[in-house]
Amino acid sequence: MAKRVTLGLAGCGTRPEMILADMQTLGSQIELSAVFDTHAPSMEHYAEKFNPDARICTSFEDLIGGGELDWVMIATPNSFHVAHVCAALNAGIHVFSEKPLAISVDECLDILRTVRETSREFCIGYTLRYSPHYRKIGKLVAGGAIGDIISLEANETLDFNHGGHIHSGWRAFEENSGGHMLEKCSHDLDMINQFVGCRAARVVSFGGKNFFVQHNGHLFDDLSTGGRKAFRTFWRPHENRANPFLSGSTVVDNQVALIEYENGVRATFHTNCVAGLHERRMYILGTKGAIRADAVAGTIEMKKIGFGERIVDESANDVEAVHAGGDRVLAEEFSQVMLGRMKPTTTVEDGVVSAFTAFGMDESRKTGKIGDMAPYWEKLERETRRVRAH
Ligand SMILES: NC(=O)c1ccc[n+]([C@@H]2O[C@H](COP(=O)([O-])OP(=O)(O)OC[C@H]3O[C@@H](n4cnc5c(N)ncnc54)[C@H](O)[C@@H]3O)[C@@H](O)[C@H]2O)c1
Repeated sequence: MAKRVTLGLAGCGTRPEMILADMQTLGSQIELSAVFDTHAPSMEHYAEKFNPDARICTSFEDLIGGGELDWVMIATPNSFHVAHVCAALNAGIHVFSEKPLAISVDECLDILRTVRETSREFCIGYTLRYSPHYRKIGKLVAGGAIGDIISLEANETLDFNHGGHIHSGWRAFEENSGGHMLEKCSHDLDMINQFVGCRAARVVSFGGKNFFVQHNGHLFDDLSTGGRKAFRTFWRPHENRANPFLSGSTVVDNQVALIEYENGVRATFHTNCVAGLHERRMYILGTKGAIRADAVAGTIEMKKIGFGERIVDESANDVEAVHAGGDRVLAEEFSQVMLGRMKPTTTVEDGVVSAFTAFGMDESRKTGKIGDMAPYWEKLERETRRVRAH
């Protein structure tokens, strides 16, 4: 019998459970061999669900030091990504890391350098890249259906429960998550970057915390009805979460941004953590037509400039599926990568570019100035030149 590919997991929280549950080859061709989390019951839960014989580890070093791992999945809070990813790569282990890549420019470049120096496989969990909905939009754009993109709007407005989740856990603090734009919206920035096909040249952004503030604290109980507790979702049920209005969160709950791309395309992005109407929408206008798509509703509309018909496609998305159906495809393609049957869909460079775009927006938000992205790309290019010189 062929040897199973062995996978270790760091961070046994909400996210990896979704991916592992969708991996058809887990248990047959791929084995979850070892787990590490700072919360012991979470490790036991994963072992019980995915492999009772999995090694329960006492530290990250213990996880990667057992000598049996081919791959490791990093699903720890964002501030730990750099240490965990680099240590695993340096130990000769291939890495799947959850997004975002890391929480600072230097950390992102550390990961980029380590991936390039160790020549290990690296994939990052930008799940929208795998979604049939977004792949359909990408195909239309790349196939020239709307001509060259001129401008676009995108948004991610989150259900209020999701906002409560963000403002009451580790994501609430910039030192853990790297900020809301990076943590939550770098998915969308990654997709916009991909569709536009180049990097941001200039960004400007405004944002703040206007809802999850102390004087709205009564809403935590006031909006709970019929046995349903507002702002407390099913995520992390064992955690007795803080009231998100009183948590002292340091991340914004709403932000808008403008981007001008190197090829002249102009884009707007809007996020809000307490939407009455939750959307993840894109409206892309090109020289030949326009696409309007909502990943939550599962619709893609397209119309050419002129007197032709509007085409409405509702088949691209399973609206019940998380992340516009991306997770199932990601789990399957990640399995294929682990089994050596395909190359990763999303690279470390994609992770750097979306993170840097978010950093640029937050820099503009904090300084009140239009952000020139050139210094970010110069750092990336300097790192690339340094690697080539060696
Ligand atoms: N791709 C996606 O769509 C997507 C969706 C959700 C989360 N994520 C990413 O996945 C990662 C995890 O998010 P989550 O929602 O599972 O968070 P979570 O809070 O549900 O789980 C995090 C886990 O990490 C553990 N942990 C904390 N510090 C640790 C450490 N130093 N070492 C080991 N374990 C530690 C916690 O005990 C917890 O079990 C984050 O990077 C997040 O951005 C990605």
